[in-house]
Amino acid sequence: MRNPIYVALDVPSAEQALLLADQLAPAVAGFKIGKELFVSAGPDLVKRIRSTGASVFLDLKFHDIPNTVAKAVAAATRLDVQMLTVHASGGLDMLKAAENAAKETAGTMGRPAPLVLGVTVLTSMSAADLHQVGVESNIARHVDRLVRLGLDAGLRGFVCSPLELAGLRSIVPESTALVSPGIRGPNDAAGDQKRTLSAPEAIDAGATWLVIGRPIYAAPNPRLSAESILAAIGNGR
Ligand code: C5P
Repeated sequence: MRNPIYVALDVPSAEQALLLADQLAPAVAGFKIGKELFVSAGPDLVKRIRSTGASVFLDLKFHDIPNTVAKAVAAATRLDVQMLTVHASGGLDMLKAAENAAKETAGTMGRPAPLVLGVTVLTSMSAADLHQVGVESNIARHVDRLVRLGLDAGLRGFVCSPLELAGLRSIVPESTALVSPGIRGPNDAAGDQKRTLSAPEAIDAGATWLVIGRPIYAAPNPRLSAESILAAIGNGR
């Protein structure tokens, strides 16, 4: 069975991140490095985790003019990350620039291009929040629209909430990667996540990769927790 688990290293220091990565590497597919850890520990940490052979998902959610995003994506590609994120609302030209920069930079290095994942509507946004920024359609319609825009730009993957998985699976090509956070088991604290599925449910709904944070890194034994989530997915096959 393919291991679909990326662990979110939502910890503030390189030392904590490296300790977790070392413990968890044999039980997971890779590690997600987000804004807090990247701003505090930087590209050096990405290189150190990559040097252990683990895959890295660099979740910096780029959104800027196409030229700036292309350069940031090229720099992330040179760090040899396997996935990275851009905001789909950055528009067609920005998304094309991001995808092209990933492919061109990886090509010059003789490596496969990282997956450039489109982030649609942040799960923290309500319909009222969208209206405030001038988006009058409902959330599902807006997500759908942004996914189609991303596909037009050549994106090969998207981040979505677990409850959007089944709907999006029916509109994206089979080869499109769907990456889902918001994963909680029956005994996990939901924390601030409101719309969750368990790992086996998310895989059944069409997730390619699962991003799991607190249920693994905040568990008394993170390695055991990752292994039992993986076993639950395996049992569901
Ligand atoms: O701890 P937890 O499992 O909730 O962590 C989920 C990870 O996925 C966090 O790093 C969080 O920032 C990220 N994420 C999310 N919801 C999104 C996008 C990213 O939970 N819509």
